[in-house]
Formats: sequence, structure tokens, C-alpha cells
Amino acid sequence: MYLHLLALHSSTRWLLLLFVIIVLMRSFWALRRKSKYTLADERLRAITTSVVHIQLLLGVLLYIISPIVRYFWQNFKQAVHMREIRFFGMEHIFMMLLAIIILTIGSAKAKGQLTDKLKFKTQLVWFSIGLIIIFSSIPWAFSPLTHRPWFRHL
Ligand code: HEM
Repeated sequence: MYLHLLALHSSTRWLLLLFVIIVLMRSFWALRRKSKYTLADERLRAITTSVVHIQLLLGVLLYIISPIVRYFWQNFKQAVHMREIRFFGMEHIFMMLLAIIILTIGSAKAKGQLTDKLKFKTQLVWFSIGLIIIFSSIPWAFSPLTHRPWFRHL
């Protein structure tokens, strides 16, 4: 169960990044070309937000069953000084929750805007901030904080 969830959470990261980047590229070009905010844009925004929330759900489940997180809370005093353990016990969850809140607010704000220009602009600003935070808090294979594989196979 744990390893399946870890592999799923690892893969969903790519889907999430893909969708957020597509929203950003679309918003950028739409603003330059003064395009209309179409039903496809509405759907893209909604699907992207759903993928983000699925990743949140997987993350919460993983947080509950992860032996690393359990070790962190059971041995807090020592574990807080251990980089990899602290990363998953505290930093990853804090930063990712922050990013997810920002993406969710951005999505809701974009939906409520009255003009097409404002919808794209809102998406561009809020999703860019969310993406930067997510990028900085993924345990990339090259990350100095802690590294995990690019793809996890079962
Ligand atoms: C934007 C959202 C997120 C992304 C892109 C993301 C990405 C990742 C990646 C790439 C890993 C490494 C997987 C591997 O080892 O192959 C990971 C691990 C983990 N994530 Fe996330 N994550 C996100 C949100 C969350 C949230 C919100 C939580 C908690 C509520 C969470 C909890 C965890 C835990 C507990 C682990 C690993 C624990 C272990 O190795 O035992 N993640 N995450």
C-alpha cells in the first residue's frame, strides 16, 4: 500500500506540473493575443485544480502512513536535526500546502473575474507563484535538501 501510494504520488507530480505549465503558457499567449476565455480554458482550469487536489489527497494519505513521517513525530527532538526526515515531516507538507492554497485561491479568483483579460492575468500571477513554490519543494534527484528518483517503479 505504502509503496503503491508513493509511486502514484511521484507520478502525479508530472501530471500536475504539465497541467500547471499548460495553464501558464495558455494564459501568457492569450494575454498577448487578446484571446477570449473559452469553455476549453474553463475546463483546463478546473481539471488542473482537480489534479492539484488529487495530489493533495495522495499526499495526506502518504503522510499518515509514511514510516519516515512516523519516525519524525515519534523522535521529534533528534529527527528535527536530520535533513531528509525533517524535509518530509515538516518542510514538504508546509510548502506544498501553501502552494495548493495559492493555486486554489487563484483558480477561484480567475473564475470570478469579469473580463477575459483579468481571468488570464489572475491565472498567470497565482499559478506562477504556486508553481515556483512547488518546484522548490519537490525532492528532485538534484535537490540539495533530499533527493528521490525522477520516476518510481514498483
Ligand atoms: C503539489 C503537490 C506535491 C507534489 C508535486 C509532491 C511531490 C512529491 C514527490 C515527487 C515525492 C517523492 C516520491 C518518491 O519518493 O518517489 C513526494 C513525497 C512525499 N510527499 Fe509529496 N508532493 C506534493 C504534496 C504533498 C502534500 C500536500 C503532502 C502531505 C500532506 C505530501 C506528502 C508527502 C510525503 C509524506 C512523501 C514521502 C514520504 C516517504 O517517503 O515516506 N506531499 N512528494
